[in-house]
Amino acid sequence: MKTKLIAPSVLAADFGNLQRDIEMINQSAADWFHVDVMDGRFVPNISFGFPVMKTIHQHAKKFIDVHLMIVEPEKYVEEFINYGADLVSVHYEACTHLHRTINFIQDKGAKAGVVLNPSTPVWVLEDIITEVDLVLLMSVNPGFGGQKFIENTYKKIRETKELILENNSTALIEIDGGVNTENAAKLFDAGADVLVAGNAVFASENPERTIELLKV
Ligand code: DX5
Ligand code: ZN
Repeated sequence: MKTKLIAPSVLAADFGNLQRDIEMINQSAADWFHVDVMDGRFVPNISFGFPVMKTIHQHAKKFIDVHLMIVEPEKYVEEFINYGADLVSVHYEACTHLHRTINFIQDKGAKAGVVLNPSTPVWVLEDIITEVDLVLLMSVNPGFGGQKFIENTYKKIRETKELILENNSTALIEIDGGVNTENAAKLFDAGADVLVAGNAVFASENPERTIELLKV
């Protein structure tokens, strides 16, 4: 199903009030929970791991989209699926055997996504595009919320869309980093199916209204 989906990033939530923020997403027009896992090795920041994932799973009533920014993700994907991940995305740059990892995620019953850093060209996906359920294009360098959107992303969305159509792939295109109410419509128009939004949602005065605005 191709539509406009919004995935608020839990990374920008208030961890002292995590349950409250999860309930807000449950009640809002948001479609997915985006869960950013960072290991301090693949990216220069550490976010959270299984205990927080467990809390999200306990309270979230929507699809859980896990973005692994970790080295050797294949070691941990099964545990994230056991903790309720509906989709697990791994970085192209972190996977020596990407094809094997994508198939492993799907064999364990979850959807599988591949993530590209801003400097990684779309053509590297040529031989995996028919296998993946989602392509996540980073529109900032991964590691931190609240960064500035990289404009070259529009070009990459169009190239990814072309690759998907040429290969009759059913993969969705997700955009992550610096998404806000100013660029959301343009990103959907360029071919994005899912937009991740952290700060735009959680730092706004009315997060539920912002989620609605991101969809139009
Ligand atoms: C960045 C993360 C993003 C981040 C987005 O490494 O993958 O998901 O939380 O945050 P904003 O929307 O604030 O750029
Ligand atoms: Zn992310």
